[in-house]
Amino acid sequence: MSDVNELDRSARWRRLLAELVSTVVLVLTFQGAAYAQGVETVTYSKDVAPILQENCQQCHQEGAIGPFALVDYEDARRAARRIKDRVTQRLMPPWHLNPHLGIQEYKNDRSLTEQEIVTIIDWVDAGTPRGDPADLPAPVEFPSGENFLMLGELGSPDLVIKTDPFDVPAHGNDQWWRPRVATGLTQDRYVRAVEVLPSYPLGRGVTHHFLATAVQEESVGGLLTEWALGKVGEQYQEGTGKLLQAGSEISFEVHYYPNGTPAPADQVSLGIWLYPEGYEPEFPTVLRMFNVAPQSVLEIPPHSTPMYEREWVMQSPVRIQSFQAHFHLRGKGASMEAIYPDGRRELLSIIDNFQFNWHNNYIYEDHVAPLLPSGTVLKFNMWYDNTEDQLSNPHPDDFVTWGDRAADEMGHMWIGVTNLTEDAYLRLVRERARIATEDGGSR
Ligand code: HEC
Repeated sequence: MSDVNELDRSARWRRLLAELVSTVVLVLTFQGAAYAQGVETVTYSKDVAPILQENCQQCHQEGAIGPFALVDYEDARRAARRIKDRVTQRLMPPWHLNPHLGIQEYKNDRSLTEQEIVTIIDWVDAGTPRGDPADLPAPVEFPSGENFLMLGELGSPDLVIKTDPFDVPAHGNDQWWRPRVATGLTQDRYVRAVEVLPSYPLGRGVTHHFLATAVQEESVGGLLTEWALGKVGEQYQEGTGKLLQAGSEISFEVHYYPNGTPAPADQVSLGIWLYPEGYEPEFPTVLRMFNVAPQSVLEIPPHSTPMYEREWVMQSPVRIQSFQAHFHLRGKGASMEAIYPDGRRELLSIIDNFQFNWHNNYIYEDHVAPLLPSGTVLKFNMWYDNTEDQLSNPHPDDFVTWGDRAADEMGHMWIGVTNLTEDAYLRLVRERARIATEDGGSR
């Protein structure tokens, strides 16, 4: 792989992205101006509070992970400039996909619509008018950080497996903790959903990254979940699931990052929701790692913006359920493209604004989850920014190579993959075509 080529390509990408961003900003500014001249004043009570309630408060409230609360008018007024800044750049809510390219329908989408962004901008530019408190929506009750987020939807997990206690010091280097814990299962069961819960409140600030691997028979073992700051959990589609065998164990890898406050005897909990006894999903799913920038090739010179590219040929038909990019501080973006056996190319998704704090897992809506025939090439690009433009970059002068520490780099994708038989693939394609026609006809 030639460096010049890489730099070249990544420069092209960046130009493309810059153009996109400026188009969006232009459109927004234009709409904003039209709004401000006219019809109706945007107020906190009527227009802004519902947006904050629905899209921000789960994290921005007392005891949650956001750095300040956004619960009442005073909170929002005080943070108004910063809010405008973050939502305009699409840094908040944390959702870092390109909003125009690739598939846009995700189960866990938490991005704002362009109209919502415009409303916030107008409100800040109009001097944060409060409006009539009678217009305020009723307050929302949120689960505390002590509980699994999926509790509301799925009830308590069937299994909660805790890591052995570990003393996280107040200061020092990254720490790795690798305990192995029995699941206690006496029968084979299929997993429907998993969620990782750092201890509350102290563990939340220091649990950086977490892997849980099922230790069982070779052929079915493997990664159960990969979690990093900001990720909620994984829930499988109806009819899909992962096997956990009787007598299995979970091998954990917890990456702690001391933050100034010690977290004594810290334990991370893994919540597992099971399908009923005896249930066998039609489509067992695996979380597969695609190592786009492995140790043998990853080199990031000072002030460079390299990109890596790698392809895999699908050996059977597959359905892609979800994806997540794993980088450290220099990670900038990642794309996933399908090259079908007939030569057609499709950009499936593109993360163009990766933020190290947020290893978002993007879960496709059922009706758009890519269905790829056998022989499809899945092509990944992952790119880095080791310049001062990258806000998270601690030292643009460093020569960065592959490694575990946050100051080193990595570059891989975690993809939720369901392997399909030829028959199942054809059936799913036909079902989707039928639904598309019915939808088309009814509109
Ligand atoms: C999933 C949790 C989550 C959601 C949802 C979320 N935030 Fe945040 N927000 C955070 C965290 C954590 C930080 C601090 C780390 C960071 O900046 O990434 C933050 C930082 C910010 C900051 C910067 C604070 C500073 O001091 O500069 C602003 C402004 C902000 N959020 C506004 C919002 C707004 C407005 C929304 C909704 C439209 C929102 N956030 C939704 C978790 C969240």
